[in-house]
Amino acid sequence: MVGIGPGNRLDRTRRAEQAIADSQVVAGYDLYLAHIADLTAGKELIASGMMQETERCRAALQRAAQGAVVALVSSGDPGVYGMAGLALEMTAAEGFEVPIEIVPGISAANSAAARLGAPLMLDYACISLSDLLVPWDAIRSRLTALAEADLVVALYNPRSKKRIMQLEEAVEIMQFHRSDATPVGIVTAIGEANERIEITTLGQLLKTDVGMRSTVIIGNSTSLQLGGWMITPRGYRL
Ligand SMILES: C[S@@+](CC[C@H](N)C(=O)[O-])C[C@H]1O[C@@H](n2cnc3c(N)ncnc32)[C@H](O)[C@@H]1O
Repeated sequence: MVGIGPGNRLDRTRRAEQAIADSQVVAGYDLYLAHIADLTAGKELIASGMMQETERCRAALQRAAQGAVVALVSSGDPGVYGMAGLALEMTAAEGFEVPIEIVPGISAANSAAARLGAPLMLDYACISLSDLLVPWDAIRSRLTALAEADLVVALYNPRSKKRIMQLEEAVEIMQFHRSDATPVGIVTAIGEANERIEITTLGQLLKTDVGMRSTVIIGNSTSLQLGGWMITPRGYRL
């Protein structure tokens, strides 16, 4: 399982590049394979669309069980809404006898934070607004708990063409506990040519362009905008 970071070469680790170089087969979602095209010449590719994670994972494990060295790639970190958990569960459930190594990567929350400034300087939580695998009721109660706990929140999978209501409801929950002036950072397509960085407020968030390739960071009660950056002060006296 190899995390390839947000998509650009400089944010890949050397260990990730080495793991891909050492592999004979590379499996991943089409877009992620495009991000690492410079590393995969001459290798067998198992490419598939976003919704075919289970089949892609099984195909990768089957090739590994046949003796091939396989790199199953995830964007960001494979253990953060990535393929690592699925692969470990499937290995146990379906009896694959293959050695597994998990190569970490820079997750979207961390690369988004670096683009925005330093919004994750204090306690924070990541939450995915995708209710494909987790019921929306569970996501909603977690959002409420996070809002009450005054944690900075990094939203993954914030909105898609079909999933609009989730972000609206998340903002409503946050607004119940946080002021409209709370800083919010939105970073879209990190590391790609069309990367977009925006700092706005909770009150304005729904008016911004947020999609599947965005990571949204909602500040806590102490987060602020300073010199064009979004910062959550750690409490140093200056
Ligand atoms: C299925 S999750 C994958 C997360 C990934 N494993 C990670 O550690 O970053 C997909 C979500 O991650 C975020 N994401 C992934 N790549 C991104 C990028 N290049 N720019 C901004 N957000 C990204 C978006 O919120 C997207 O909806």
